[in-house]
Amino acid sequence: TIHPVLLCGGSGTRLWPISRRGYPKQFANVLGSSSLFKDSVNRLRGPNFANPIVVTGEDLRFLVTEQLAEVGREPDAILIEPEGRNTAPAVLAAALWIERNDPDALMLVTPSDHVIPDDEEFRAAVAKASNAAQDGALVTFGIAPTRAETGYGWLELQDARDRESPCPKPLVRFVEKPQRAVAEQMLDSGKFMWNAGIFLFSVKAILEAYRRHVPEMIEGVKASLDGADGDLDFLRLAEEPWSKVESESIDYAIMEHEKNLVVMPFNRSWSDLGGWEAVWLESNPNFDGNVVSENALAINCKRSLLRSESAGQELVGIGLENIVAVTMPDAVLVANMSDNQRVKEAVAILKERG
Ligand code: GDD
Ligand code: MG
Repeated sequence: TIHPVLLCGGSGTRLWPISRRGYPKQFANVLGSSSLFKDSVNRLRGPNFANPIVVTGEDLRFLVTEQLAEVGREPDAILIEPEGRNTAPAVLAAALWIERNDPDALMLVTPSDHVIPDDEEFRAAVAKASNAAQDGALVTFGIAPTRAETGYGWLELQDARDRESPCPKPLVRFVEKPQRAVAEQMLDSGKFMWNAGIFLFSVKAILEAYRRHVPEMIEGVKASLDGADGDLDFLRLAEEPWSKVESESIDYAIMEHEKNLVVMPFNRSWSDLGGWEAVWLESNPNFDGNVVSENALAINCKRSLLRSESAGQELVGIGLENIVAVTMPDAVLVANMSDNQRVKEAVAILKERG
């Protein structure tokens, strides 16, 4: 069986004001009538999958249980981090947890805030990658790149044709968050894919990789798990050893150094909704290029997103072009679409103001 491991950390500030510290984007109905978290849970269900393990923080735990209940899914465990330590310790804690009862299992590590409309195809890709994972490879899922994105990891393949392969292909090199010029070269070369941030591997293989690359991380995470406190489905990792664990992403800690990686191309729609422009794009803009929610009205607008999140509050845009406008009961965002990445700056300033 494959154990789904859902990472539920970051606060997703780029989708403010829908995404809030206490209510990050994965729990909001950003697209359609379900949340990204619920979609992620539903994607990994079926005969091959065990109940999910969710790794999250204290403040999000009730959103997790509530939304699991809404889709009728029992968790295997909800691991609570005393503090976010980025993804490497989170994945390690899950691996050590699974090892206790199912040491020969596979685990599928996935963010809970990505959009993958075609669940069926995704499960098929996971199935096709399972043999390689069973044989000890670390599988990462590759997305065909469309821009020189510096916020992603990039996966170099041996040959451009490998990007169309229906089965996993060897990885030449993993480059996490490159400089702009490097990203442009990689895009032009035609031999790279984006790292989706979704991984499939055996518990044995990933623990081996941690021993090779970050052995010092293991002791602290293990101690946190051994000292963990359980109530209901929650397992609270012990604070003291956890506080000494280094904060690092699995991409930098393991993937950039690991020789044992293969890429499973996933040539279907995927987005990590890294800003309002991505939401606009994923929402199928109408013939004018607009995305207009209930309680919103667009007159003579082009390429704009108008979204009212409060029942009874009307949002009207006239003569707008390339604008995102989002209203909540307590906050309104009006921005140029091209500046949508700067929303996180605004959130930082607001946070400072208290
Ligand atoms: N539980 C937990 N604890 N989850 C965390 C933590 C943590 O401390 N930190 C991050 N996460 C979760 C986030 O909520 C997110 O769902 C996922 O792990 C990835 O973290 P991000 O912070 O969003 O990573 P990134 O976007 O910079 O980069 C990763 O994703 C890209 C694709 O979206 C990398 O894997 C890149 O290589 C990849 O291209
Ligand atoms: Mg991300």
